[in-house]
Amino acid sequence: MTSASSPGSGTGSSSCTRGRSPNGRRSVTCTRGPPTRTRGGCSRRCRAWVRAGCRSFRSRGRRPIRRRRRPAARSGRAAPAPRRCARSRRRRSSPSRRGTTPPATSPGRCTVPEPCEEPILRVEGLVKHYPVTRGVLVKRAVGQVRAVDGVDLELRRGETLGVVGESGCGKSTLARLLLAAERPTAGTVRFDGRDIFAMRGRELRALRRRVQIVLQDPYSSLNPRMTVGDIVAEPFAVHPEVAPKGERRRRVRELLEIVGLSPDALDRYPHQFSGGQRQRVGIARALALRPDVIVCDEPVSALDVSVQAQVLNLLADLRRELGLAYVFIAHDLAAVRHISDRVAVMYLGKIVETGDETRVYERPTHPYTRALLSAVPVPDPDAPDWTRRTVLDGDPPSPLDPPSGCRFRTRCPQVRDVCAEREPALEERPGTDHPSACHFP
Ligand SMILES: Nc1ncnc2c1ncn2[C@@H]1O[C@H](COP(=O)(O)OP(=O)(O)OP(=O)(O)O)[C@@H](O)[C@H]1O
Ligand code: SF4
Ligand SMILES: [Mg+2]
Repeated sequence: MTSASSPGSGTGSSSCTRGRSPNGRRSVTCTRGPPTRTRGGCSRRCRAWVRAGCRSFRSRGRRPIRRRRRPAARSGRAAPAPRRCARSRRRRSSPSRRGTTPPATSPGRCTVPEPCEEPILRVEGLVKHYPVTRGVLVKRAVGQVRAVDGVDLELRRGETLGVVGESGCGKSTLARLLLAAERPTAGTVRFDGRDIFAMRGRELRALRRRVQIVLQDPYSSLNPRMTVGDIVAEPFAVHPEVAPKGERRRRVRELLEIVGLSPDALDRYPHQFSGGQRQRVGIARALALRPDVIVCDEPVSALDVSVQAQVLNLLADLRRELGLAYVFIAHDLAAVRHISDRVAVMYLGKIVETGDETRVYERPTHPYTRALLSAVPVPDPDAPDWTRRTVLDGDPPSPLDPPSGCRFRTRCPQVRDVCAEREPALEERPGTDHPSACHFP
């Protein structure tokens, strides 16, 4: 992985020396680190060389040749080794990066990176309201759809955050905001510490490379007029630095192999594949640019159960091998539990409960989460009371006019007077071990 794009780059050192070697060739020494770090000491041209050096090393999947730094050699001291985090070393030496990986679905083959504590994505007070207008010639705003209404989240490197909630609660809107595909009404999303909505030009392009999406519908998300080879190679046209033209076909073959498709898929069209195979093509396309984060917006809901399991296992294996972080959006509680380290439960544009997967699934504190989980039968007579089926009355309220106070109060079996007056904050309360937005957890 490149210096600029490696997840560990924030901790790496960076240096760049430029000059002519005795044989008259230009020489560039590049050690890991974001290219921006080189600004102080180097010219623009030099920075371009450094970046090119990093890119070519990245595209070959090998480490660049490091030359000894002159001042260190003169002083007799060894040049300090650039710092790299353990995870970045793992990624670089990953067999799949060297193109020798057997299909990623074979279990028990890979090292398991533990999620780092450092968040790669931090969402604060995120709000997205869509105006509702009336009138043909003169448009009048008559209201606002509060699709996302004050969401706070963190995604750590190498972890999977499951987002679950019923239809219309704002999951896909949140996904689009995380990709900077839409601008928010308020709030920030920080990727590696930088506000993505303040990014422009090159920086935004780099973000788009590092954050990818797998879409829900494998039928409509692939262009039926393009071959699978062209679909998977398409991101390289936008980011040629990742794979130079001559290498693209080989790289696409590698990607298809990683997602468990045979290389002869390259020249076939999407309609010649099953739903599960198409979703694998979508995943290969998302992996093409070697992202750090993949937002999976209901990637298995259009698939039948056995194929769902295959795709979920594939995603889990890829995460282990490539050190990816996922935001995994789904309706299916079992699927979310299977793949997630942490879970966030969404209701009407807000997160109502969040925490480690075992805490949320085994000790849910919000009545909405309990109702969702109680819909899954538990074959255990000693199971806690909350596992008995709670049927929620009515439909979710309209996001155009959400209820005052707690948004869940119109359907909550535990509702009290105060719930209409005060909106509960998402916080950990006495007697609980994770945050939830309920006055009476
Ligand atoms: N571009 C838009 N303009 C106006 N309203 C929108 C727009 N996009 C989404 N919405 C509204 O925002 C709300 C949330 O939509 P969103 O697609 O995020 O829900 P979701 O949780 O992904 O639902 P599902 O599970 O069905 O995919 C819905 O009420 C929807 O009608
Ligand atoms: S705050 Fe009140 S209405 Fe909201 S979930 Fe808790 S008990 Fe139910
Ligand atoms: Mg959706």
